[in-house]
Amino acid sequence: MNVPRDVRGRVAALREEIERHNHQYYALDAPLVSDAEYDALFRELQELEEKFPELVVPESPTQRIGTQPQAEFGDVRHRLPMLSLGNAFDNEDVVAFDRRVREALDVEQVEYAAEPKFDGLAISLTYADGVFVRGATRGDGYTGEDVTANLRTIRAIPMRIAARKAPALLEVRGEVLMLKRDFEAMNAAQRAKAEREFVNPRNAAAGSLRQLDTRITASRRLTFYAYGVGAAEGIPGFTRHSEVLDYLAANWFRVAAERDVVTGVDGLLSYYGRIGTQRIALPYDIDGVVYKVNELVAQERLGFVARAPRFALAHKFPAEEATSEVVSIEVQVGRTGALTPVARLTPVFVGGVTVTNATLHNLDQVRAKDVRIGDTVIVRRAGDVIPEVVRVLAEKRPTDAREFHMPEQCPVCGSAVERIESEAVFRCTGGLFCAAQRKQAIRHYASRRAMDIEGVGEKLVDQLVESQIVHTPADLYHLDVPTLAALERMAEKSAANVVAAIEQSKHRTLARLIYALGMHHVGEEVAKILAQYFGSIDGLLNADWDALIADKERVQKENTRRRSRDEALLEPVLPGVGPEIMQSVANFLRQSHNREVIRALLDSGVTPESPPARPLRRGKVDGRTFVLTGALSKLSREEATARIVAEGGRVTGSVSKKTDYVVVGADPGSKYQKARELGVTVLEEQDLLNLLGQ
Ligand code: IVH
Repeated sequence: MNVPRDVRGRVAALREEIERHNHQYYALDAPLVSDAEYDALFRELQELEEKFPELVVPESPTQRIGTQPQAEFGDVRHRLPMLSLGNAFDNEDVVAFDRRVREALDVEQVEYAAEPKFDGLAISLTYADGVFVRGATRGDGYTGEDVTANLRTIRAIPMRIAARKAPALLEVRGEVLMLKRDFEAMNAAQRAKAEREFVNPRNAAAGSLRQLDTRITASRRLTFYAYGVGAAEGIPGFTRHSEVLDYLAANWFRVAAERDVVTGVDGLLSYYGRIGTQRIALPYDIDGVVYKVNELVAQERLGFVARAPRFALAHKFPAEEATSEVVSIEVQVGRTGALTPVARLTPVFVGGVTVTNATLHNLDQVRAKDVRIGDTVIVRRAGDVIPEVVRVLAEKRPTDAREFHMPEQCPVCGSAVERIESEAVFRCTGGLFCAAQRKQAIRHYASRRAMDIEGVGEKLVDQLVESQIVHTPADLYHLDVPTLAALERMAEKSAANVVAAIEQSKHRTLARLIYALGMHHVGEEVAKILAQYFGSIDGLLNADWDALIADKERVQKENTRRRSRDEALLEPVLPGVGPEIMQSVANFLRQSHNREVIRALLDSGVTPESPPARPLRRGKVDGRTFVLTGALSKLSREEATARIVAEGGRVTGSVSKKTDYVVVGADPGSKYQKARELGVTVLEEQDLLNLLGQ
């Protein structure tokens, strides 16, 4: 259908007027029309678009809310990397920054643009010929996620920029955030519905933006503040950063009203103080202020170091601290089984959120800080990190304060808790069974280097565990196509592929199966040695680990003694596997829960290929006695000894008639003399290597 010219004109005029009202309402908080008048304009546009669908374009104000959830976010490569900022934590850092800038520019005094540092999510918005075409998260700085559809729902982001002569390309950079008042209102609504509240505006903004269903994003009140321009073509020739910000403000972007232009380090520090006192009253959360050399030519001259510009600096506010009491100390089990002591506190408001618990990291920290149940403590919260206990106010310790002890059993699954001597952590040994470690254990089991089950990745494991279909790796073998196909986003075909892949995994090597069990400290190499040594799962399960460990330690000690006296060494027990690893394996295999899961794996048809038994071959130097003297060049003495022993020989310290060979290196001593006297065969290093068979 042909669209009459006056309709085209009216549609364009309506869109522009609606965008202007959006800007007045959402960016400036100063509406020019009543809600009813706005709604009337909006409805008129909707009706015209319905009548003439060919006029609908994605940037129309009617198209802000999509209807179809996306399957995933695409990648967007940034035209210019989105960098981070160097941080200053005290005045000295700022003085040093200003000095570096002055010296590099060779000037007496520098003009700076100063702005609040928004505590939200970094975003890049791309406008082509003035039309919003793409929005992306920062990602790793080079590639971000395409969140265009979500960003369209944010009314403070103009779909078309106001400039009459729109630039060919304009990339606006800034932060998506949730205003404090919107955050409060949203949490009040959540409370009323008895639903989970958000921790702080930053998390709420992040969670709301990264929704595959834009209808959810649209229902949350997000906003956007611009702080700069990335790639651009055809923008006016600016000379200062402050002019860039004014340009953005004139083109319907929200920019911080608190921005300022200051001079010298005194200007910077007084700005910092000023914003610090306003912080609580600001409409949004900030975690510091940002200083940027104002002149763009100077910025260019200063350039970048690593991933941060030399012309800008983030001056952070100190982490907030508060006082609270330790009500109890509980233990959390992480997904790798690590036990973390956590202090439960009387609720305290710190850094913008109510804190009810704080991490104590590990037992060593609890002891070092001497935190006891009943103590009054200082709690700190910095940015988005987990709150922590900084120190105890010893003078406030009540007489009945109690010391904390690590539990001997895992609070989640009841398995024994182990502590590896060389590490600060305590760990649950019920890795295959413990609910806290389930996802990790199953993911590891199915991973490429373990049982290599294609299609059983992170997402599927999460789904299977969360829907309580799978509790342990053994449950994988009872999955069928209908069960899998009933899961969200799983087609019949892929379900069948997954079942087939699981079936195939029944016949991996024993080494892979041992590795797949996820025993702490047992990597692929150790798994291979264990497979070779024990030959079967039953061999591993039935081994007398206490005796093996005792043997290992005895032989190690004895060999240390013999080595110092240059005597023949004993054959090591389980070569290549140290006593700590053996202890870890022993602890794991001692847990009945783990044994049950292993049993269940075998019962489900997992039949690993056993390694070929080590051929009972004769060593190349079986029964021969060697003496080493002088400095060897290709092998260390240890290596030479190990290889001789591996080939069935012995190495002793002194030459006698029973000695078969004396191996001489550079500067041999009296042993060489003795060998000549007794007529013992003398070998050079290369002869030894030939004998051992390179
Ligand atoms: S300028 C080349 N200005 O801070 C430097 N960044 O550490 C570009 N941020 O994730 C950054 N408020 O998103 C700049 N007024 C502000 C800012 C700001 C917050 C964030 C930024 C980035 C981080 C850099």
